[in-house]
Amino acid sequence: MLPKHAGVAEVAAAQPPVVRVAGLKKSYGKVEALRGIDFEVNQGSVLGFLGPNGAGKTTAIKILTGYLAASAGRVEVCGVDVAEEPLEVKRHIGYLAENNPLYLDMRVADFLHFAARAFFLTGRQVQQVVDRAVCCTGLEEVYRRPIGHCSKGFRQRVGLAQALLHDPQLLILDEPTNGLDPLQVVEMRALIRELGRQKTIIITSHVLPEIEALADRVVLLHEGRKVADGPLGGILGQDLAHCLVRVCLRCKPEQLRTVAEEANAVWLEERPQPFAGDDLAAATLEVAGADGLSRIATVAAQAGYPLLELAPQTRSLEYLFQNLKQGEEK
Ligand SMILES: Nc1ncnc2c1ncn2[C@@H]1O[C@H](COP(=O)(O)OP(=O)(O)OP(=O)(O)O)[C@@H](O)[C@H]1O
Ligand SMILES: [Mg+2]
Repeated sequence: MLPKHAGVAEVAAAQPPVVRVAGLKKSYGKVEALRGIDFEVNQGSVLGFLGPNGAGKTTAIKILTGYLAASAGRVEVCGVDVAEEPLEVKRHIGYLAENNPLYLDMRVADFLHFAARAFFLTGRQVQQVVDRAVCCTGLEEVYRRPIGHCSKGFRQRVGLAQALLHDPQLLILDEPTNGLDPLQVVEMRALIRELGRQKTIIITSHVLPEIEALADRVVLLHEGRKVADGPLGGILGQDLAHCLVRVCLRCKPEQLRTVAEEANAVWLEERPQPFAGDDLAAATLEVAGADGLSRIATVAAQAGYPLLELAPQTRSLEYLFQNLKQGEEK
């Protein structure tokens, strides 16, 4: 039984998981796209499904949504077995597919009405759910426009509105910001973050910052296997492992090398000056331990070199996978 003053997270964790995946395998002929993966998604959480191209993310998503049969294993969504009741499962899932297939000749309004009827909604219900989804995704200004005349950002919103029509408990978004310009990416992420307040979300990406911005937990796929599962910070081992840092000081390049040595930092590469001005030296260093950054700042200050930049770098997905593979080999 839960304690009387249980928090939201505790209450959600006490509910049965919205998604249960066990021993999931899928082969396309000789290609083993999924080699037996297991994970669960708790109610109210935003799960980032991360992995490089070809890792098996879309394949897993297609099985979860009932669009593709698994070769082995079991998937349950909201307690419903996907293989046994694919239609029932679709009632619980809103799905924005990879590359967001839409009918470009249809107007936004007509497409959403059509999609609502495909969810077996009828009569006044149709207009009600379309109005709600249009309002939620900010589509008012393009409501009467043909989809083919809408910007990529608005088209993504149309795809998202379609996924929301039947008010599903689980939202599955496959690369929702792919191909958007930076401003549209920011808008789309804000929208997804807002939706994450009410719904359980699975979002796939091969871009680390995307997942960092949205997900509270990550499942990392690599060549059809799950190689990590947990909060992103823990997976990256940011507080324990080596941290890459961009440094720029007002000093000569050889003086920056001395600072790096005294701060016990490893010199990785000299970088072009990031700011205008003379007498600037910049480099990427690697420091060990949580106090690595402050050691550099302290040594630079003691030497009297003004500090212009001291920035931990976001690790790339490639770096993350290299580390995981090295870990496996040890
Ligand atoms: N219909 C198909 N027929 C044959 N092989 C396929 C098919 N769909 C996917 N694959 C293969 O299965 C593997 C996993 O592909 P999948 O699309 O699931 O990866 P992904 O993680 O979504 O990649 P991306 O980041 O590029 O979207 C890849 O080797 C891919 O070439
Ligand atoms: Mg994919």
